[in-house]
Amino acid sequence: MATAPRAWLLAGGAASRAHYRSSFSAVAVASWPVAASWRPRVPALTVAGSPLVPAGRRAFSILGPKLPTDGDVDLDSIAYGYIASQALFTALKLEIFDKIAAAGDSGVRVADLGEAIGINGPRLQTLLTSLVAIKCLKVDANGLYRCSVNITRFMVSSSEHYYGDFLKLQMDRPFHHQMGGLAKVMTSGEDPKYSAAKYWPAKNYGSEELAKDFLIKQKLDGANRMLDVAGGFGAFSYTVVGATPGLESTVLEVPAVCRAAEQIREREPAYVRNRVNFIEMDANNVDWPVENASFDAVVMSYVSSSVPEPIIGKLYANAFHALRSGGRLFVHDFIVDDNFAGPALAALWALQHVTVNAEGLCLSPSEIISRMESAGFDQGKSKTLEMIEGMTKLVIGYKS
Ligand SMILES: C[S@@+](CC[C@H](N)C(=O)[O-])C[C@H]1O[C@@H](n2cnc3c(N)ncnc32)[C@H](O)[C@@H]1O
Repeated sequence: MATAPRAWLLAGGAASRAHYRSSFSAVAVASWPVAASWRPRVPALTVAGSPLVPAGRRAFSILGPKLPTDGDVDLDSIAYGYIASQALFTALKLEIFDKIAAAGDSGVRVADLGEAIGINGPRLQTLLTSLVAIKCLKVDANGLYRCSVNITRFMVSSSEHYYGDFLKLQMDRPFHHQMGGLAKVMTSGEDPKYSAAKYWPAKNYGSEELAKDFLIKQKLDGANRMLDVAGGFGAFSYTVVGATPGLESTVLEVPAVCRAAEQIREREPAYVRNRVNFIEMDANNVDWPVENASFDAVVMSYVSSSVPEPIIGKLYANAFHALRSGGRLFVHDFIVDDNFAGPALAALWALQHVTVNAEGLCLSPSEIISRMESAGFDQGKSKTLEMIEGMTKLVIGYKS
C-alpha cells in the first residue's frame, strides 16, 4: 500500500467503565465514538420563550433555548462553544464534578471546593459561573453548588454511565488542540505528524458496547472465523466471540499493540481468550498475513476513516480475498448520509479526523459501497445500518 495509515484517531469510544479496563495503545490513537448507551447526549433544545430564558437575553442555545434565528445557524453558540467545551473538560480534569457530587444533597461552597481541589483564587468562581451558565452546575441562593442531572449521571466518575474519560482523553487531549490547526491542514493537505507516545494513557473504550449493539443488529451465528482488521486490543472481538458459540477471531494489528493486547487478553475468561489471537500486520503491506478464502466475516471498525483515501479500496480488496464464498465484510465508521448534509455529529467527527488524516475520505454509504463493489463484493446487495445514532453506520458487503 502506498501510504501509511498513520492516524488512527483517538477515537471513540467512549466510555463505560467496563471498557476502561483495557488499556489503549500508544501506537494507535484511535478515534472511536461512543456506543449508543453512553455516547454524549445532545440536550434537547427547549422552546423559544422558555421561562428559563429571560427575555432580551441572548441564549446559549447549545444547552438552552431555540435559536432566535429560526433554524438558521446559531453563530454565537458555535463561536463560543469551544469555551464551553473547555469549561467542561477542565471541570473533569480538576475533578470538580466528583468533589461536588461527593458532598451529596448539601452542596458545596466555592471556598470549600477550592480547598478540596487546591485552587485558591477568584478564577475558580469564574469557572463555576460558566459551568452554571452552561447548565453543568446549579447554584442556590446560599451559594451552594450541585451537579446537574446529566453531569451526575455521565460526568461523575463513580457513576456507571460515566464517560468523562472519553472527553478528557480523546476529545480534549488530542483533538481539541489539533482542531486549532485545521485551516493549515486544509490548505496544505499535510496533517501534523502523529505522535503515538503522546497518547499512551488513552484507553480503548467504546468498542465493547459497540460490539453488543452490533450483535443485536447482525448475528454471526454459524460463522467460525472472523478477521478483525486493525482491531486494537480486541475489545470488539472479545464481545462478539463471547456471544457467538464456535466463533474464533483473528485480530490484525501493529506489533506494539499485539504485544500489549496479548497481556490484556489474560483478563478475559478462558473460553473467550482461547478463541482470539493476534497477528502482527502493517496495513501498509498489500498482503495480509492470512489465508485467502478462509474467513466468514471481516470487520473493519474505525479503519476506513483513519486511512488515506487510496488505501480504502485496497483494504476492501484484501477483505474480499480473505473471505470465503458467502462471507461478509462489515465496515463500521463515522459515516455521513449520501446527501452529504449530515448528521452533524458524524460530519464533525469526520472533520476532526482531517487534522490527523488529511487525505481521508468523507465517508458516505455510497462511497463505501462503490469501493466494496469495485473490490468484488456483490453488486446491489450491500446494506447500511445505523449504529451510534447520528454518528456511525455499518455498511455490509456480501461475497457470493
Ligand atoms: C481507530 S483504532 C480502531 C480499533 C478497533 N478497530 C476498534 O474499533 O476498537 C485503529 C487501530 O488501527 C491500528 N493500526 C494503526 N496503524 C496500523 C497499521 N499500519 N497496520 C495495522 N493496524 C494499524 C491501530 O493500532 C489501532 O488499534
